[in-house]
Amino acid sequence: MQVTMTVNGAEVTRDVEPRLLLVHFVRDHLGLTGTHWGCDTSNCGACVLWMDGEPVKSCTVLAAMAAGRSVRTVEDLARDGELDPVQQGFMQCHGLQCGFCTPGMLMTARHLLDRDPDPSEATIREAISGQLCRCTGYQNIVAAVRWAAEHPHGAAEVDDEAVTQSAPAAPGEGRSETEVSA
Ligand code: FES
Ligand code: FES
Repeated sequence: MQVTMTVNGAEVTRDVEPRLLLVHFVRDHLGLTGTHWGCDTSNCGACVLWMDGEPVKSCTVLAAMAAGRSVRTVEDLARDGELDPVQQGFMQCHGLQCGFCTPGMLMTARHLLDRDPDPSEATIREAISGQLCRCTGYQNIVAAVRWAAEHPHGAAEVDDEAVTQSAPAAPGEGRSETEVSA
């Protein structure tokens, strides 16, 4: 059968078997291998992408069911060569080890922050509760999402903070009375 859908903003049409899962469609037919295929039984969440703006486990969706829908994968997170703040947060906070769960975690985190820009640790843990990470113990993933919440403009914001903090002090500024009078 022929399916047409929008993937990362571009319309795509492919001939597929009716039984083809969406995770295999994006990986094998479109070459978007950022979406990972882990368990195939709806347990791990490595396959999470967005369909019509909502995170879904793409191993639970037939490609045919996505016809006419809008799909967004992890490849669409970075813009103009700039990583999304959630991607930067995972770098800053070591939110990954093997990285297998990471694409799904990133897509869930982006969705959460778009709706709740300042989520509590409990809210973050609930949001990712359908996804498994066998490496990190989750603490650094939660920290990475919090980093992204605190830096909605990403590393550019950190650079600005660094520039502000390293700006040359005005004469006498930042020196003790003894130093100033010496
Ligand atoms: S591959 Fe889809 S939940 Fe594991
Ligand atoms: S970083 Fe290895 S499974 Fe999460």
